[in-house]
Amino acid sequence: MVAQGILFFIAGYDTTSAALTHAIYFLSLHPECQQKLYEELKTCDEFTYEKLVHLKYLNAVINETLRLAPSFLRLFRVCVEDYPLGNTDSQINSITIPAGTFMTVSTYTLHRDPKYWDNPNDFLPERWIQPKHHPYAYMPFGGGPRYNHPGVYPDSPGFEPPTYGYS
Ligand code: HEM
Repeated sequence: MVAQGILFFIAGYDTTSAALTHAIYFLSLHPECQQKLYEELKTCDEFTYEKLVHLKYLNAVINETLRLAPSFLRLFRVCVEDYPLGNTDSQINSITIPAGTFMTVSTYTLHRDPKYWDNPNDFLPERWIQPKHHPYAYMPFGGGPRYNHPGVYPDSPGFEPPTYGYS
């Protein structure tokens, strides 16, 4: 119980404070976004969970902040079965990740990959109003079959938990 309690403090404190610090930083660089967010916040009469999750621009700002500056820069996994990489299936170039291999996924790199994001290095909260990204191109809270992160707003507009299978 104590270990779980400590984990919650470590996992919950630095990640949240880094996210808030980065959000304020990006807003300071983009006063037009700051103004838009201010206008939206003025429409909210009480800052409860139920009301906050429906503030589209606030959630867009948070999602965009975590895209450009994910609090965890990478995820860690162990490969459970031999996994041939999809684009290396010719006999000459075939690469298979053997079961038991320790893997890391750089979310920082993925979140800025031009293959998945237009203007990847720009702070554009608007992209989250009607998001069209691949779910596995955005994983600030992790992803995969046991995805159930305690810090996530499940009903937040624009946030699509990446819960479907691998491909
Ligand atoms: C902006 C805020 C946060 C971010 C970006 C964040 C990010 C992450 C990431 C990337 C992981 C690894 C997930 C994976 O490997 O699939 C993780 C795990 C975890 N986080 Fe957070 N986190 C945040 C806030 C919180 C808060 C507020 C709590 C609790 C109060 C929390 C508790 C945990 C716990 C317990 C784990 C381990 C889950 C497991 O292994 O099953 N996090 N977090």
